Amino acid sequence: MNQTASTATPLIRLEGLSKVFHTDEMETHALSGITLDIASGEFVAITGPSGCGKSTLLSILGLLEPSSAGRYLLEGHDVGNLGLRRGAQVRNGQIGFIFQAFNLIADLSVEENVALPLTYRDGVDANNRRQRVREVLELVGMSHRGRHYPGQLSGGQQQRVAVARALVNDPSILLADEPTGNLDSRNGEAVMQLLEQLNDNGTTICMVTHDQAFARRAGRTVLMLDGRIVDEDTFERMRHEDDMPQLEVVS
Ligand SMILES: Nc1ncnc2c1ncn2[C@@H]1O[C@H](COP(=O)(O)OP(=O)(O)OP(=O)(O)O)[C@@H](O)[C@H]1O
Ligand SMILES: [Mg+2]
Repeated sequence: MNQTASTATPLIRLEGLSKVFHTDEMETHALSGITLDIASGEFVAITGPSGCGKSTLLSILGLLEPSSAGRYLLEGHDVGNLGLRRGAQVRNGQIGFIFQAFNLIADLSVEENVALPLTYRDGVDANNRRQRVREVLELVGMSHRGRHYPGQLSGGQQQRVAVARALVNDPSILLADEPTGNLDSRNGEAVMQLLEQLNDNGTTICMVTHDQAFARRAGRTVLMLDGRIVDEDTFERMRHEDDMPQLEVVS
């Protein structure tokens, strides 16, 4: 990694990012003016009530969705309007995504699932691919299950395989949307420890979680309310004023 570049330029910079969904005759302001920097090597937790825009924010960070306004710089490059093809290339090369529901492909073995992102990449031959798959499965403690299918694994094991798949292309950042949300506390703890271990070894992580105990273990917690990032005092005050925060909906 280039130390000079990583201290001068945040890995991720969002400036006034907004997202409006248009459905029927309704506009939903899912994100309103999000400004956020994530430095290389950070572990950031994003938390806030249901519907406040956490998954929308993560989808935009993962280039799975375009924003409606504002700027998104990834390693100093504007990736806000890349188009589908170039966006997919950047996503595949620089971003690893972990979903709450694991999203492994049932008909592919563990090894095949993990290898999938490599097959979209030029210049990786079969030997390199096998080697890299072995490395990341080792890293998440799942080498012994390479020939199994997702349905033969526990939830915690499936999520560790999903983490291996997200890591296989050596991304700049790992994005995780409720990675422990479908797991019991023991498996959730194991996945959290895995993320902590990856972060200790230099992986930048941005994780959405409802779990306050997990959020506190991240290096920094970002609180969201109604599509905005708020500080702790504002968060507490607004939550007391309005127990079930509503989104701004304009018809
Ligand atoms: N594809 C979509 N079309 C229309 N509205 C959407 C879409 N995706 C999300 N929204 C709306 O945007 C708002 C934010 O949704 P989002 O999924 O980001 O919330 P969240 O914070 O992840 O909630 P949860 O904690 O329940 O997962 C919600 O009001 C939601 O209904
Ligand atoms: Mg969500």
